[in-house]
Amino acid sequence: MRSDDILDGVRELFLLDPDVVFLNHGSYGACPKPVFERYQAWQRELEREPVDFISRRLPELLDHARAELGAFVGADGDDLTFVPNATTGVNMAARALDLQPGDEVLATNLEYGACDLTWEWLCERTGARYVRTEVGQLLAQRSERTRAVFLSHITSETALLLPVAEVVAQARAEGLVTIVDGAHAVAQVDLDLSALGADFYAGNCHKWLCAPKGSGFLYVRPEWQERVDGPIVSWGYEEPVTFISRTERQGTRDSAAYLAVPDAIAFQREHDVRDRCVALAREARRELCTLLDTEPLAPDAQVLQMASVRLPEPQPDLSQRLFDEHRIEIPTMRHGRDDLLRISIAPYTEREDVERLLDALPDALRTSRSPA
Ligand SMILES: Cc1ncc(COP(=O)(O)O)c(C=O)c1O
Repeated sequence: MRSDDILDGVRELFLLDPDVVFLNHGSYGACPKPVFERYQAWQRELEREPVDFISRRLPELLDHARAELGAFVGADGDDLTFVPNATTGVNMAARALDLQPGDEVLATNLEYGACDLTWEWLCERTGARYVRTEVGQLLAQRSERTRAVFLSHITSETALLLPVAEVVAQARAEGLVTIVDGAHAVAQVDLDLSALGADFYAGNCHKWLCAPKGSGFLYVRPEWQERVDGPIVSWGYEEPVTFISRTERQGTRDSAAYLAVPDAIAFQREHDVRDRCVALAREARRELCTLLDTEPLAPDAQVLQMASVRLPEPQPDLSQRLFDEHRIEIPTMRHGRDDLLRISIAPYTEREDVERLLDALPDALRTSRSPA
């Protein structure tokens, strides 16, 4: 089935430049106007009476936003804390482990570069080891020194849905701590974090939930909450101290992005076109594979709203060329290699956008390859 139906009106609800074919929702998301207006309304409300807003009203407003987010991701709102982004969440989870010399953290070789850096940094300082391996071999690499397992729910570069439920269940059965990077999974996957049972789950609302930038969260199982610190020590460390106070009372800051999360959830419910997006992403992947004469990286079942396809050779300037010459925004992936092209299909993406890419690609690839 071709998914060439056009969604009347949804595209106009986004703030995106109409002159750009925007096929990179995956990097930073994009926020629709009604949600962005609510975000700005919260900022204006703060500025009208900063003391009343921050000192008196904010804790309750955040509780409400957290409860709504909890209901959306299948967790108790008290088991979540808002953080600016998933990277912060992964950092907080990693530090809570209190790694000791000789400890090992197992991860797939498909993890997001900044999170690899987090673990490498921490392991270097603690004398622990960060061990990366094929996802299918993850738990087979376990040794008596293994403390924790880290994996993405949906990978960044290869854009693949990983078997997180199976890995978490098996790792927990073997007594390992589980940390999931769910940066791309929120609103692409129907989450039930309590049922998933991961010890830590870091998510982003600003990607596929289309909330304003700076709206991430960290879910922490109750038995770990006491060990989780915020990025800085501030007033939340004064008694009575709670998991939420330590991690959310982080000095004076703008919490408007968090407060707009319930509006992003409402928008998503009202415009839930995920099936159409997944169908279009899989269709685009098939067409790109044919055009590039390459095999798919994995079966369709591992592809949701993003798809990566292998390029015939590394193309470090392809993304810039497509933008400069065709006004198409799409990234090449794989740190330092640029041999994957990743397409994102968001609620505003139309069949026509994919066709613009398919039309532009042969020429852009030819020009990319020719000597400078
Ligand atoms: C798998 C994965 N994890 C983490 C991140 C980091 O997200 P943020 O920059 O919002 O922390 C990304 C960003 O693209 C990602 O793809």
